[in-house]
Amino acid sequence: MFDILIKNANEIVKEDGILQGDIGIRNGRIECMGNSFCKELSHAQTVIDATNKTVLPGFVDCHTHLVYAGSRHFEYELKTAGETYSSIHKKGGILYTVEQTRKAGIEELVEKGLKDLDIMLQHGTTTAEIKSGYGLDEKNELKILYTIKVLQKLHPITIIPTFLGAHTIPEEYKQNRQGYVNLVKSMIPEVKGMVEYCDVFCDKLGFTYEESKEILEEASKHGLKLKIHAEQTGYNQGAKLAAELKAVSADHLDYITEKEMEAMKQADVTAVLLPGVTYHLTELIPGNKNQKRFLPRKVRTMIEKGLRVAIATDYNPGSCRTQSMKAIMEAAARLYRMNNREIINAATINAAYALNRANEIGSIAVGKKADLVVHDCEEHGILVDNFGVNLVDTVIKDGEVVYQR
Ligand code: NIG
Ligand code: FE
Repeated sequence: MFDILIKNANEIVKEDGILQGDIGIRNGRIECMGNSFCKELSHAQTVIDATNKTVLPGFVDCHTHLVYAGSRHFEYELKTAGETYSSIHKKGGILYTVEQTRKAGIEELVEKGLKDLDIMLQHGTTTAEIKSGYGLDEKNELKILYTIKVLQKLHPITIIPTFLGAHTIPEEYKQNRQGYVNLVKSMIPEVKGMVEYCDVFCDKLGFTYEESKEILEEASKHGLKLKIHAEQTGYNQGAKLAAELKAVSADHLDYITEKEMEAMKQADVTAVLLPGVTYHLTELIPGNKNQKRFLPRKVRTMIEKGLRVAIATDYNPGSCRTQSMKAIMEAAARLYRMNNREIINAATINAAYALNRANEIGSIAVGKKADLVVHDCEEHGILVDNFGVNLVDTVIKDGEVVYQR
């Protein structure tokens, strides 16, 4: 007997094609799928009728800054009036959130974190990476990482923690950049037991190529895997560094050139694109006269070169405030002109690669973890076409129903 039988799905979206029929789940794993295979054993404790519905792997949100306090919604009208992310950064931006987060207690951060994770789960996310980076001193970075630890215990979403002490230079180190780089390096042995990845914002608003390298090499020495915020607000050699250090992923990449694409391909670095940032900041819209920034062409080149392309929310209070992977898929189609198959793989299996978990999650396959979402639409293309609404019907996490509309 199965624990769960998903019956009669109109589409079961696999990594390389579509099936119809049933999915049998036992002991947290997918045991069988498709019309003929689940028939003989079609008893189950729980039966989910998926007639006229579509089953996808749970979304993997491989890049978020979910733990923060306060809100920066007041920045949005500055953006609509034409201000850029960089100009707002000078007036507050990340450092405004750092101020709010330093004032917050763990309880408040946990409460807000759980709310955000609930919204994510209701929108079909079953695995999420969370970065620190709004503490920027030892006490507050540890507070955020401890918050993430509590969230891991309390929430069904699988959470993968990342240390982003190198998010930007805090106010008190503005005149002493190397002092802050040294501080971040000294935190690595302290935090290494609490995180899987170390990330750096390699950008003119964050850290230089050399500073990023110094920090990431230290992290690597301590056994952490690497991620890099690269080429976000301009070209800063972050993608090159990702290839040199064999980072698991390089993220953003708005200003990447073909040379780094090739280096990333060689070094097997996953390209994590964040189309929600493009949408939210309204700076890099398609059709922009500056062809270097013409993102659909850039994304097409990455795909044609065989780079593994993932997408993520980048959920944070400044550059992209959405918890919904579906919203990101909608933006990937409209702003980057990715097709439906590319988008779904980017939000699932390729995002699982960006977290080094592609053998366990990210696709519907016998033996893989039963992290599955039933969507209330007949075909997967509707998820991209029907924008601005949530179509999630049922979320199954580790073989258990954790959300039902
Ligand atoms: O990925 N750019 C660096 N970090 C975030 C934004 C953080 C913020 O604005 O609070 C990003 O876009
Ligand atoms: Fe980010």
